[in-house]
Amino acid sequence: MRIQIQNLHKKYQRGDTELEVLRGISCEFASGSFNFILGPSGSGKSTLLYLLGVLDHPTSGKILIDDTAIDSWDEAKCNAYRRNDVGFIFQNFNLMSNLSALDNVLVPFLPRGIDQDLTQTAAQLLERVGLKDRLEHKPNHLSGGEQQRVAIARALLKQPQLILADEPTGELDSSTGRMIFNLLRELGQEQNATIIVVTHDERHVTSKDTIHRIEDGLFIDTDSEKEREK
Ligand SMILES: Nc1ncnc2c1ncn2[C@@H]1O[C@H](COP(=O)(O)OP(=O)(O)OP(=O)(O)O)[C@@H](O)[C@H]1O
Ligand SMILES: [Mg+2]
Repeated sequence: MRIQIQNLHKKYQRGDTELEVLRGISCEFASGSFNFILGPSGSGKSTLLYLLGVLDHPTSGKILIDDTAIDSWDEAKCNAYRRNDVGFIFQNFNLMSNLSALDNVLVPFLPRGIDQDLTQTAAQLLERVGLKDRLEHKPNHLSGGEQQRVAIARALLKQPQLILADEPTGELDSSTGRMIFNLLRELGQEQNATIIVVTHDERHVTSKDTIHRIEDGLFIDTDSEKEREK
């Protein structure tokens, strides 16, 4: 999936004051590419991911998915995109507290029905993120990093064409973090998925990745670091 964003602006209204969080950003995320968005707290990273996941709409500017502007989509198309095409790994996990790890991974498929094959695939994904022995644990019996890995498995089960990951390794130690990035890269390659990761952790950036730095709602130095030596 190829994504282009053109002069994207996002303003929030807070009482009488208007807060401009994204102030005109443009770039392209190539199909099958691995992209990082780096930037300080409050710079607009999560806001940008929400717009790309069509969980919210820009104030102005355009988002094109495979050359189609999403503002031409009706609600049904937006829902289908969110349901089928996008795997969203939220910064705060959004797990259901009354469900086991395995059932949390399966939740997005409830409306369509869950068969044994899918359950097995979900269990395998949990195994790949290192949670083989935690399938029946509920979130309050999982550590923060384990909950994060459940959220990652949930996003990957539908084999999305686009993976949006908001600080996917924020709660993880560096070796588990590396495992998660390896898994994202592997699955991205297997499925030719476009991957966009917001992170503070630059240790996982490789020379093949595209980096976008955001500061105060604007991209700085887009792409130019790609050649930089590590
Ligand atoms: N729904 C909202 N209404 C009003 N202001 C908001 C809303 N969502 C975010 N903001 C503000 O927009 C700014 C950018 O928020 P955002 O969550 O995109 O930052 P971020 O770069 O993801 O930060 P962090 O690294 O801390 O997660 C922040 O100042 C935040 O307070
Ligand atoms: Mg954020």
